[in-house]
Amino acid sequence: MVVLVANEKGGTGKTTVATNIAIMRAQQGRDVLLVDADPQGSSSEFIRVREDEQVKPTITCVAITGRGVSSEVRKLIPRYQDIIIDAGGRDSAGLRSALIVADALIVPFLAGQYDVWGVENMDTIVGEALGLNPEMKPLLVLNKQDTNPRISIAHEAEALAKEMQNLQILNTKLCYRVAYRRSAAEGRAVNELDKLDPKAVAELDALYKEVFSDEA
Ligand SMILES: Nc1ncnc2c1ncn2[C@@H]1O[C@H](COP(=O)(O)OP(=O)(O)OP(=O)(O)O)[C@@H](O)[C@H]1O
Ligand SMILES: [Mg+2]
Repeated sequence: MVVLVANEKGGTGKTTVATNIAIMRAQQGRDVLLVDADPQGSSSEFIRVREDEQVKPTITCVAITGRGVSSEVRKLIPRYQDIIIDAGGRDSAGLRSALIVADALIVPFLAGQYDVWGVENMDTIVGEALGLNPEMKPLLVLNKQDTNPRISIAHEAEALAKEMQNLQILNTKLCYRVAYRRSAAEGRAVNELDKLDPKAVAELDALYKEVFSDEA
């Protein structure tokens, strides 16, 4: 399965989601390729840290950017069971190209008006991509939700997200938790950290199940 993690907006959790689900897929014994389609190279850096620390399973990561993403990924599909693509926020040629080959798209987004505008824009881009790739499942996931349930901004974001034409909001929400930051710093999935945060682990398990529900 080819899973693209994308949002034109920066800092919404693309690399966090892409690296964690790539590792979780590999933990199931699957042959996984992580494609770093972001010129910033955060996923590549994550995997470098992981290799330095000799964390198993090892994950193969390649950097492919720009409009060649779809053709390069297509060539790699026969060699891997899963390909997870971390799309750069600012690389719109790479993003649009990746949308042609993705079986599923995950758009992590943050609550707050400014971010919801970004999601509306993504919804439009996804609408165009679905013309070329109608089988793609476009999914939205709220990230960095406040753990305090009295904060209503997340509910507002959810209500707005429900109005999207193409993007489907997932039941799973990822809260703001230190474990996600630690994951990035240590090159480990949240479920591999020395000090486990069961709530963060459960959130990513739930996300994983929703995304891969149709798959083995
Ligand atoms: N749920 C979360 N709780 C706490 N911190 C988080 C969470 N999700 C992501 N972060 C942190 O927020 C920062 C941005 O996340 P990440 O790098 O995954 O976003 P991105 O969309 O890939 O950003 P960019 O657009 O720069 O590529 C990172 O420092 C990451 O560790
Ligand atoms: Mg990133």
